[in-house]
Amino acid sequence: MTSAPLRFGLVGTGHWARIAHAPALALTEGIELAAVWGRDPGAAAALAAEHGATSFADIEALLAAVDGVAFAVPPDVQAPIAAAAARAGKHLMLEKPIAIAEAEADELVTAVAESQVASVVFFILRFREEMRAWLADVTARGGWAGGLASWFGSSLLESSPFNTPWRRDKGALWDIAPHVISLLWAALGPVTSVTADAGPADVSHLILHHEGGASSTVTVSQNGGEAAAGFEAYLWSDRGRSVAPRMMPDPVPALSTALSELVANIRAGRTEHPCDARFGRDVGHVVAEAQRQIDQRRRG
Ligand SMILES: NC(=O)c1ccc[n+]([C@@H]2O[C@H](COP(=O)([O-])OP(=O)(O)OC[C@H]3O[C@@H](n4cnc5c(N)ncnc54)[C@H](OP(=O)(O)O)[C@@H]3O)[C@@H](O)[C@H]2O)c1
Repeated sequence: MTSAPLRFGLVGTGHWARIAHAPALALTEGIELAAVWGRDPGAAAALAAEHGATSFADIEALLAAVDGVAFAVPPDVQAPIAAAAARAGKHLMLEKPIAIAEAEADELVTAVAESQVASVVFFILRFREEMRAWLADVTARGGWAGGLASWFGSSLLESSPFNTPWRRDKGALWDIAPHVISLLWAALGPVTSVTADAGPADVSHLILHHEGGASSTVTVSQNGGEAAAGFEAYLWSDRGRSVAPRMMPDPVPALSTALSELVANIRAGRTEHPCDARFGRDVGHVVAEAQRQIDQRRRG
């Protein structure tokens, strides 16, 4: 017997909601994209109509109509709504970073734990098929001394649809570094400390130490120019290097994988996932500590 699909609501109607979350929710087996909320009622109605969903002007009414919620809003907007959704017993497909303020991330994690809801954070690198194959290989081999990773984006170009206020304000440290930290965390072990400094053009440099002794470096920027854009990562040891695969442009298959795993957890009554809200909070701590150090250096 097949069970009825789980009803999901989408919070957010911007570019990312339209190109990633809505199509992934619509195509993932076991999910019905039932509801859309956005602060712009016209945009919510248009996106809902595209997918045969209902648009809501009131977030509480949306929560009452769904089993789970997917988020495509800025992190400081996501965190309190997600905590309220968890407290209402709704399962969560979250975006990275899960919050900006550490207290809000903690409150979200507490709400998820106390309400026993399932959560997954869309650290995209962790859900790409080719990256998972690489991670499975490098973790099976083990013995890595360290890793290097860089990701230069171009989201702060004026022409980019990703040039949004929170991204301009928080930069690549909050936007891209969480992805890279989540990857190195899985490859080399939990991050135990970070040392951070910044350069020009939105550059942040991080030195990470991992449980088990490995160390790694991360360089990210959203303003290095289109010609320099790209992602590279490798692990190294005295046996040589293992280079991570390049990234595929389409986010929908990876997000659909994340949603499928969320559904599987909900069906099984499981709340833990390698990329759950707690992991999102732990990655956020690394970013917040890096920000503190960068701010301190700037103050001199
Ligand atoms: N995992 C990934 O690979 C990936 C990639 C891209 C983005 N993301 C994440 O997706 C999220 C959104 O991405 P984005 O910044 O590029 O935004 P976006 O797609 O432009 O969407 C932002 C949405 O949030 C709404 N919004 C903004 N401020 C709000 C507020 N104060 N109250 C209510 N709604 C508000 C916007 O409404 P209006 O349309 O009315 O302005 C819009 O619907 C972020 O968390 C980002 O990290 C993840």
